[in-house]
Amino acid sequence: MIPSAPGAGPAGEPLPAAVRTALSEPTAARVADLWRELGLDDATLHDEDAQRGLRDALADRAGEEWRRACARVRRLLDTPPHVALVRAAGPPSPPVLAALSVCLGRLEDPYRRSWSRVMQEIVVDPGSDDALAWHVDSPGWPRTNDLTCLLCVTPAAAGGRTEILPWTAIARELRSAAELRAELAARKIPWVLDEALGSRVVHQPVIGPEGLRFMRGSLERAAAAHPRDAPWITSLCRRFAEVAERARPYLSHRLEEGEILVFDNHRCLHRRGPVHTAEGAGEGAGESADRLLIRTRIGRPAWRRSVAAPFADDSGGRRHRSDAAYSPEGRKE
Ligand SMILES: [Fe+2]
Repeated sequence: MIPSAPGAGPAGEPLPAAVRTALSEPTAARVADLWRELGLDDATLHDEDAQRGLRDALADRAGEEWRRACARVRRLLDTPPHVALVRAAGPPSPPVLAALSVCLGRLEDPYRRSWSRVMQEIVVDPGSDDALAWHVDSPGWPRTNDLTCLLCVTPAAAGGRTEILPWTAIARELRSAAELRAELAARKIPWVLDEALGSRVVHQPVIGPEGLRFMRGSLERAAAAHPRDAPWITSLCRRFAEVAERARPYLSHRLEEGEILVFDNHRCLHRRGPVHTAEGAGEGAGESADRLLIRTRIGRPAWRRSVAAPFADDSGGRRHRSDAAYSPEGRKE
């Protein structure tokens, strides 16, 4: 059994002001109007042409503030800690989430079933503690999503902080564990894909050329499905979880109503703290399901990212002259 590492330890650092972006009410309203005008909903948004149509309409008509905000979010995602927080004025807006998502890349849905959603409601699942330990999203997909966006519709009454651990902090911690790092990059885990994707197996390391792939529950499934490999999978996972547990700094933020948190799912691990109702906070109170987020998972970023492949170097994103299509301005590393 791979040990649990819940996010209830010492608090991380608050999100720096530099990663926050505000959108005014007229811009948010313009985005929502476009969404309505194009007749979009979750079902229509599965279609790539519809996503492109929305992206084009936004570029033409959402205005300068929108354009600047999207450019800023892209720039933040390219720069450690690879996190951006957007707050649009007004009530929580799924159209703004969808619009921001299509401006960052393609909304992914590998299931292609009537039940699957590109804008997925996330409630607390008391039956699973995967979200409480450091992980990346979609380890059951053939290729994990590049970016994750979370819109907070209903904040937790208490607890439920979202925590982000950037690769730069993990890499620093691994400097004194060269053998482990080499093993994490070389040993290919036989990941078992989601049942709805045929439970196929893909072989990938925890630290791959594109980024991180890690979730305790998925590693336990891989170990159970491959008993001969179970000892090394379990050992590798435990040692990596210990490294992640020690790595500093990590960020910690309790999402407020209407906030959209975006992070790089290949260059960060994330987890949430336990969620409680106002009455139920405290030890032994158990988790409540009153927190509601809407999540999009994004692949194929729509811009040419200005940093090197995540793990080409340990500087956390040394810029390559040959890859300078996107010119950073303002925030410097
Ligand atoms: Fe997650």
